[in-house]
Amino acid sequence: TQPVPVIAIDGPSASGKGTVAERVAAALGWQVLDSGSLYRIVALAAMRAGVALDDEAGVAAIAATLPARFEAGRVLLAADDVTTEIRTEACSVGASKVAVLPAVREALLGWQRDYRLAPGLVADGRDMGSVVFPDAALKIFLTASAEARAERRYKQLMDKGLAANMQSLLDDLRERDARDAARPVAPLMKLPDAALLDTTELDVEGAVAFVLDLVRGRGLAAG
Ligand code: CDP
Ligand code: CDP
Repeated sequence: TQPVPVIAIDGPSASGKGTVAERVAAALGWQVLDSGSLYRIVALAAMRAGVALDDEAGVAAIAATLPARFEAGRVLLAADDVTTEIRTEACSVGASKVAVLPAVREALLGWQRDYRLAPGLVADGRDMGSVVFPDAALKIFLTASAEARAERRYKQLMDKGLAANMQSLLDDLRERDARDAARPVAPLMKLPDAALLDTTELDVEGAVAFVLDLVRGRGLAAG
């Protein structure tokens, strides 16, 4: 039997991975995994428990027993709705700090792979194509200039009614990209077998069309 096909979308912060992944999954009727949200929930749970974000064993223990669920577009941590809170800059920075810890990444591996269900999965993050789903049928490296990405994040936060400052967003984004690319375990990078999609001058529709063209070209979509 054929393995369940995976489309892996990796790239830097605010490049549009989540938006494009959701639209592609909806077009195909496939499952979707926002792997970054898992790192965000772990960071939030650690901060709430008073566990230092560089305490590898402590954070990994939290990651291994996380009472988190995704329900109808909401993110729940135990009985708490944390959908909005995990999108704050504090949780973005926290996520990228716990993400450097190998034991934390290991603890989240099985959970991520559980999302691989028929008829297919669109997964976005930093290591979807390199570590979590190395046999993905299609790998995309989605990127855009740092300025374009900071602007997109700014608009997103304003729309959600969250406070945002353009310069500090740009600084955070650059710092986080650098940490994601420099870490020894599962660093952010463009794989040789990934298609490059630079959306600095491309809108969401254009990015989705690019991915769906590749999907059809490879005969991945049934019907
Ligand atoms: O998941 P990631 O952090 O990479 O990005 P996102 O959460 O999908 O946010 C990207 C934001 O930029 C969304 O508000 C999109 O509507 C917007 N955007 C995009 O995703 N792609 C473009 N080509 C242009 C704008
Ligand atoms: O939305 P944005 O692209 O800014 O971030 P995210 O995808 O929600 O991920 C938040 C942080 O989690 C990233 O900065 C990475 O450090 C980490 N992450 C990771 O290490 N591996 C993944 N597969 C996904 C996220």
